[in-house]
Amino acid sequence: MHLRLKMLLGVLILIIAAVIMVPRMLSDNVESPEEPVGQEPAEETGGEEFQDTYLFTTDYLNMRTGPGTEHEKIRTIPVGEKVRAIGYEDGWYQIEYKGQIGYSIGEYLSELLEEGEDNPDSPEIEEPEETQEEDETGEMMKIIDGILLVNKTYGLPSDYYPDVDPQAKMKVEEMIKAARDEINKEIIAFSGFRSYNYQKKLYNSSVETDGEEYAQRYSAKPGHSEHQTGLAFDLGGQMKYWLEPEFADTEEGIWLADNAHRFGFILRYPKDKEHITGYAYEPWHFRYVGEDHAGRIYEGNLTLEEYLLGENQ
Ligand code: DAL
Ligand code: ZN
Repeated sequence: MHLRLKMLLGVLILIIAAVIMVPRMLSDNVESPEEPVGQEPAEETGGEEFQDTYLFTTDYLNMRTGPGTEHEKIRTIPVGEKVRAIGYEDGWYQIEYKGQIGYSIGEYLSELLEEGEDNPDSPEIEEPEETQEEDETGEMMKIIDGILLVNKTYGLPSDYYPDVDPQAKMKVEEMIKAARDEINKEIIAFSGFRSYNYQKKLYNSSVETDGEEYAQRYSAKPGHSEHQTGLAFDLGGQMKYWLEPEFADTEEGIWLADNAHRFGFILRYPKDKEHITGYAYEPWHFRYVGEDHAGRIYEGNLTLEEYLLGENQ
């Protein structure tokens, strides 16, 4: 009898404790101070809760309506931008950027602002060790006829960070729209402005993956990439033949080669001109020089070196 009374008392205490604690626990869940009002709830993926995190774009990145390239593109996010990842599924992040929510492939999102030291918006900016660099000729930058010439001989200082050129951006968008209207194809600018440090990473990674000889033909050394001018874009079709010579034979590649000059762009590394440009055929790399120059370069079947330097190469 005595034992029964004790057990009854124990059960009673447990019930009272539960009545007091459970509503409190529930309210903690709803009003957790870690989850500010207005923040998206964490995405649940395969039963595992995804912890919101900030990531940085390591290249131009498409934001799409769903996790896959078959989904419509919402916008392109420039390189070095901070996005909030709110979910993850099969290599694709669900992200929030400038108030828009969509999906982007994880390959070009990094936890570290890898090229972050040179993101001007980043509070963690560190000045590059060397702030000025001369090219082979001792010049800081080679400008002829108003055109900035960047190649294996002429380079850019390591702190030259113009970001994408607004005029070139407007013209590349105009060109993409024209391709849509004229051949019903969607051209994607998948790489644009690159910082000195980012180019350094790309070059080193190309050397590591494909060897020095290959890297020299397809990747510029830091300070020697036209992408650092903010005036060059790598263009492709719907994910097929990106950075591959076969792009030249696609409808998009053919149209670009024949029409880019109308928008002020030149195919910068043409076929069979490696001995002049220093780079292998890149039917995807286009450089903005303005309509007049581009027209003359196209008509004359010239490289930028031949056009600007003539015999003095
Ligand atoms: N692929 C060109 C040469 C660059 O890296 O700028
Ligand atoms: Zn390029």
